[in-house]
Amino acid sequence: MRVWRRILKAKIKEIEEKFDSEIRNVSLPEHLEETRVKYLGRKGVLTSLLKQVSALSNDEKPVFGKLLNDLKNNINTKISEKLVDIKSAKKTETKLDITLQGNKPVIGHKHPLTLITQEIKEIFFGLGFETVTGPEIETEYYNFEALNTPADHPARDEHDSFYITSKDLLRTHTSPVQIRVMEKQKPPIRVIAPGRCFRRDATDATHSPIFHQVEGLAIDTNITFGDLKGVLEVFAKQLFGRQTKIRFRPDFFPFTEPSAEYAFSCVNCKGKGCRICKNTGWLEIGGAGMVDPEVFKMMHYDAEKYSGFAFGMGIERIAMIKYHIHDIRMFFENDIRFLRQF
Ligand code: DAH
Repeated sequence: MRVWRRILKAKIKEIEEKFDSEIRNVSLPEHLEETRVKYLGRKGVLTSLLKQVSALSNDEKPVFGKLLNDLKNNINTKISEKLVDIKSAKKTETKLDITLQGNKPVIGHKHPLTLITQEIKEIFFGLGFETVTGPEIETEYYNFEALNTPADHPARDEHDSFYITSKDLLRTHTSPVQIRVMEKQKPPIRVIAPGRCFRRDATDATHSPIFHQVEGLAIDTNITFGDLKGVLEVFAKQLFGRQTKIRFRPDFFPFTEPSAEYAFSCVNCKGKGCRICKNTGWLEIGGAGMVDPEVFKMMHYDAEKYSGFAFGMGIERIAMIKYHIHDIRMFFENDIRFLRQF
């Protein structure tokens, strides 16, 4: 008797577990009915088990009869519940209204530095300048030596650089692109080279260790300082409006002679003096000059035949003026509230 009892109990448990696992995967009412027949039908699993009960003694019969009956009820309840589940799943499916507008994907847009670079490129394109690029990792030769800035030159101190090896560094300015162009091309040359630069500057509202410049270079016969002034003046007026004035003051750069720093009249106060131009009426933009004959010599250009001008400008500086941004860090922080405004 004991053995029978154990075997039957185990059997009932097994059936219930098998049923549970089968019904879990059912998703159609037809399949649910098939499962019901398989377990409760006339030739079903339970019916055949019931037949075995008849072999038991009279006092065992009601005990197992009850166990089997409970199992039958359980199966029935589970089937009805499952049917409700299947039906409600179907209902939510039909609730799907395909005429409703979908969720709009968030579409990104251009970074303010990209926007201003494009604008700068377009203006120079109109003046006949082609856009070129150079590597961000440079050799000392291109970054300094070929630009007439030898190892012991004091100008190298200003460029506190990120060195990768003893001879390779992250470029401190876009001027090395001048050399790369001169190596490859013969005059006439009219190029601008926008790109990323790196200096070991401490970060503050106007300094960032990563920043961008645009380099300009024009070489031909009979290029004069007047051409440089003309080009930068047209650029200033196109970028900031026709009333913009331009100012040149003597400066020094190893790769230009003579050299100058240039400024635009303050776009905010039109030159009267305000907080933005620190009451000077002028906004310093960059450095420029006539290509130094020493550079021509290194490039094997005939300095008697050719002359040229070069200039550099900070892209962040220009974007800050144009878009009224007071802190350079905004460009690099990826704060969506800032970026969304462009
Ligand atoms: N490369 C210089 C700097 O980063 C800027 C510069 C000055 C570029 C004079 C020029 C130039 O092309 O002619 O400070």
